Amino acid sequence: MTDSPADHLATHLERARACDQLHLIEAADALDHDGRLTLSRSLDAVPWDDLDSLRGLIAAPVIAESSSNVQPPHSISADEASVSEARERGEALLSRGAVAVFTVAGGQGTRLGWNGPKGTFPATPITGKPLFALLAERISAAEGRYGAPVRWYIMTSIENDAQTRAFFRDNRFFGLDRSQVQFFPQGMMPAFDAASGQLLLAGPDRLALSPDGHGGSYGAMLRSGALEHMERRGVALVSYVQIDNPLVRAVDPVFLGLHADETQSSGEFSSKFVGRAHAGEKVGVFVETPEGMLVREYSDLGEAMASEVDGAGQLRWRAANIAVHALGVPFIRRIAEGGTSLLPWHLAHKRVSVWCPKQKMTIKPEAPNAIKLERFVFDALPWVSKPVLLEVQREEEFAPIKNVAGEDSAESSAKMQTSLHGDWLESAGVRVPRNSAGGIDAHIEISPKIAQWREDLDGVGLPDAIEPGGELLLN
Ligand code: UD1
Repeated sequence: MTDSPADHLATHLERARACDQLHLIEAADALDHDGRLTLSRSLDAVPWDDLDSLRGLIAAPVIAESSSNVQPPHSISADEASVSEARERGEALLSRGAVAVFTVAGGQGTRLGWNGPKGTFPATPITGKPLFALLAERISAAEGRYGAPVRWYIMTSIENDAQTRAFFRDNRFFGLDRSQVQFFPQGMMPAFDAASGQLLLAGPDRLALSPDGHGGSYGAMLRSGALEHMERRGVALVSYVQIDNPLVRAVDPVFLGLHADETQSSGEFSSKFVGRAHAGEKVGVFVETPEGMLVREYSDLGEAMASEVDGAGQLRWRAANIAVHALGVPFIRRIAEGGTSLLPWHLAHKRVSVWCPKQKMTIKPEAPNAIKLERFVFDALPWVSKPVLLEVQREEEFAPIKNVAGEDSAESSAKMQTSLHGDWLESAGVRVPRNSAGGIDAHIEISPKIAQWREDLDGVGLPDAIEPGGELLLN
């Protein structure tokens, strides 16, 4: 039996009293019936059982250790790996529909200055195809190639769920069967006052809430039924990709086959990495600790570790996380059911607008005033008995769009897309114009429907040459 709305709020307020959050009781007292309902729904996001320990964490955050006790991790590269065997294994999984793609797309494109879900951002050099469309094309090409469905699970957030679904509807699901795309929103976490550890109100009847990080995807998959949906359809593993990388190989049979290779993998969690470009690059790095492999996030790396070099003068911590993972479905269930204690919380000091009951208005702070908490998907790594870490080439697989300008911008990504596809065309015999610095002097775009690997161009009708400053679109 479910409790009445009034009882539900009363239960929340009892917990609030027990946790010393008396301002929430005052807030409820000032509200009418509808306002109390809204507040009650907002309070559903509060992890009451963990609140005291979270406030303790905020008061005394755990500082990431230095590089003592940490080693560069064991990894394999595609050359060393038995590629053809892995490919066969991956292709067999794909042919029986055992692979799904999972995209975390809960973030807004705020850093990019984009007003909308990041997946709607135009990402390709000529047609400005949105990031979601590129992933859809990769999935649809894989379905054509392997003759079986590749389901697509997309984690949104409450902030962008409706817009994301509408974007897919408006674009007729980019040619995919709509029943094969499942959306589900991620969980939310309340923000805490940085000084007092109290839960912050964003309005008279609601808490300040924000998405709980992509680590929340384990729980969100369980709660939303996405996990059961996968299990019922025979999905054995999930290819995890972020939304922000136009070159991401969302369905890579070699990687999936390595993940499923029992001789070197527990089939739980595998990752790709590229060599870190420079000491200041904003990427997490894989490290080996006594507890197992971990990703040390760039914000926790510290300057000394970020710039440390080995005997050959190379960056010592070079295994950059490109946020491409393979996860076994039973592993996802194990972590999701493991509950709240398995993954740590990461703290971010942020500016959050706060409701002031005395002035009856929302106040925008001048400086960071709040702590937001997030979980990271790769923090499940210590629970993995044999992770696979595969080195891949940056030029082929990693051209993320994160910033308005400079590194990791739409412009730098378009340049990398053009460069890769220009290289492919040259090796297929096309004369591609280059400038004196060796850069490509043309606009080139190849849809993933046409080619995702260089070999895919074999048999495709190509021109002999591209004019300097010209354009080649294979769509
Ligand atoms: C991320 C990785 C970093 C990696 C880099 C590679 C984290 C914490 N760090 O950094 O190790 O080297 O990518 O590009 O992920 N998202 C959600 N819900 C959330 C938060 C994020 O779905 O609550 C999604 C975003 O939509 C995005 C992805 O997760 O697709 C990455 O989040 P972001 O905060 O942009 O991470 P980065 O700083 O780029």
